[in-house]
Amino acid sequence: MKYNKELLNEIHASSDLIPKQMQKERALDLNDIMRINHKFMGGGMSQNYFAIAWFEYYFDIHNFEYMVEFGSQKGCLSTYFANFCGITEQMFFDTFEFKPETSWYVREYEGCGHWYEKLAGISPYINYFHQDVFSNETKDHILDNISEFKTFIFCDGGDKAREFNMYAPLLKEGDCIAVHDWGQEISYGQIKHTIDQYNLVVDEPSATSASGLQTWIMPFRKMS
Ligand SMILES: C[S@@+](CC[C@H](N)C(=O)[O-])C[C@H]1O[C@@H](n2cnc3c(N)ncnc32)[C@H](O)[C@@H]1O
Repeated sequence: MKYNKELLNEIHASSDLIPKQMQKERALDLNDIMRINHKFMGGGMSQNYFAIAWFEYYFDIHNFEYMVEFGSQKGCLSTYFANFCGITEQMFFDTFEFKPETSWYVREYEGCGHWYEKLAGISPYINYFHQDVFSNETKDHILDNISEFKTFIFCDGGDKAREFNMYAPLLKEGDCIAVHDWGQEISYGQIKHTIDQYNLVVDEPSATSASGLQTWIMPFRKMS
């Protein structure tokens, strides 16, 4: 059977803002892999490629039952988490984005929302919310699930320090929280009071792995 050529999409990643054919003239090297902002599965992701490997081994260490991402943006990292949950059926996933019209739904900018939503439609492990991470609605929903499941929160929205300071105090012993853009958009001084007051520690050796691989991710673990 011959497929319908009209189904091939001409819009996806077509924006002039999306770099194209970057490796056409130059071989891919480790520095390219470590650069933040990538195409992944054809979508846009504000992480480096090593972040994916890092998450795989991080999940293997902790066996979380519930995970939250603040800031879905284009949605490709969200789609990775969604697939992890759909494949393993061992973790529920929520991603939160309050401006989906600026990237999640924008095919020209490599938005993946159209595909993520199909995954969410077929799997109870995969969820998404177009709402403010600082709203009571979001907080109540997450708190409900923290009370039931071993939890991991990934702070990658518009104000990582505020996200950490609001949600780290809600965690139970053994739960974890990580921030992205460590040393870029968020630093120790902004969250030290929460770390001290709520008995969080840098989650080693994963923190060293994340730093060595230049992921800009910094994970913390809640102690007793
Ligand atoms: C750095 S991007 C997320 C990148 C994504 N996690 C990835 O790795 O590809 C941050 C996103 O957070 C969203 N955002 C900022 N403040 C927010 C808020 N208060 N509630 C929900 N989303 C927010 C922005 O619209 C933006 O799309």
